[in-house]
Amino acid sequence: MDKLIITGGTQLSGELRIAGAKNAALPILAATLLSEEAVSVGNIPHLHDITTTMQLLGQMGVRLTIDEKMNIRVDSNETNKFEAPYELVKTMRASILVLGPLLTRFGQAHVSLPGGCAIGTRPVDIHLDSLIKMGAEIKVDAGYIHAKASRLKGCRLVLDKVTVTGTENLLMTAVLAKGTTVIENAAKEPEVSDLAHFLNAMGAKISGIDSDVLVIEGVEKIGKKDLHYTIVPDRIETGTYLVAAAITRGQIKVKDTRPDTLDAVLDKLKEAGADITTGEDWINLDMHGKQPKAVNIRTAPYPAFPTDMQAQFTAMNSVADGVGTITETVFENRFMHVQEMQRMGANIQLESNTAICKGQQQLIGAPVMATDLRASASLVLAGLVAKGETLVDRIYHIDRGYDHIEEKLAQLGATIKRIAR
Ligand code: UD1
Repeated sequence: MDKLIITGGTQLSGELRIAGAKNAALPILAATLLSEEAVSVGNIPHLHDITTTMQLLGQMGVRLTIDEKMNIRVDSNETNKFEAPYELVKTMRASILVLGPLLTRFGQAHVSLPGGCAIGTRPVDIHLDSLIKMGAEIKVDAGYIHAKASRLKGCRLVLDKVTVTGTENLLMTAVLAKGTTVIENAAKEPEVSDLAHFLNAMGAKISGIDSDVLVIEGVEKIGKKDLHYTIVPDRIETGTYLVAAAITRGQIKVKDTRPDTLDAVLDKLKEAGADITTGEDWINLDMHGKQPKAVNIRTAPYPAFPTDMQAQFTAMNSVADGVGTITETVFENRFMHVQEMQRMGANIQLESNTAICKGQQQLIGAPVMATDLRASASLVLAGLVAKGETLVDRIYHIDRGYDHIEEKLAQLGATIKRIAR
């Protein structure tokens, strides 16, 4: 199993290109199941979750080809199996995203229940209840969701909670349903909007994009000849590298990104003392060699502070000047990184869903590991400022969501290498 070894202490500096957003690529690849025409998708990040999604679609009979620039061409016209098996769903919960497209286009779907996960229970009740409201018959048997339907019917759906993949599943389903579907309390994450723009480019009729009320006029079929769609940049990858620069008191410029999707994160970095300038598709961060100041954070759905950036800011607060609190409101168990950071000398106290971090002058490198993607990334960030060597184990989590992390950090001057042992 691969591990990362980091020797801390270097101030990061330089330029970096941001990859396409994982959380937009996954629903968009699932949405290709709806298209009667082959479609090409560009700016696909080089990640394990993309490989898993290609495997998932491939075993259904979908034809996929990928070129050296990571453009994926997908033809779903010969789909002949309507199943997401447990072996794939257990490694990637986002596999649930094929449920809506399979059901609405092919009339059936058999998707393994995702089950528990490192950051909480993460149920899919909102996905299922809403599909039932649209006319689906759903049975859960032996760990699988079995759904069938003739043509689904549009209706008004008021979601109990803001759910990103839930909104995406229902959006994709409603595109081919009969009549109008209104999704209220919809997630407004930029990745949801990117999916909606992709669906419209294929001929769907979605309005209210970027708001929490999505209105979808169902159509008989979608698909546009020779469509090429480019995925939005990854705002969480962007934020992670900005924190990497801030935590090491460095300076970086990230390119091919979307500053307008990062308002809450950039505000907190400014509060931490970063000098930030932005252009249309770049962000420059300069700490001028200063120690970051501790910041208080409360996670919530977009446009508030993203839960996927919480662990990285916990790492920054652990070496910042002062005391900062991190309150997690989206997932109930998302502090596994805290115990590992404590082993590196961080002073963090957990009180229910809040982590109180008292900044330390110095963390000390240690062997650490984490059980989810962003927590693992936060340990790499802690390693960048720790004294001595940090060995981060179980980095397959990082490879699920970060495109060549050690190469990108090394490009910024970090001493980091991947070892297979
Ligand atoms: C997505 C993102 C993930 C991010 C999260 C929150 C993808 C592939 N993943 O995950 O990176 O951390 O949004 O921004 O896009 N919930 C229910 N019932 C449901 C669905 C969700 O109770 O049917 C709850 C969840 O347990 C959680 C909250 O709603 O407490 C938000 O979860 P959700 O937005 O659905 O997360 P994901 O879409 O799985």
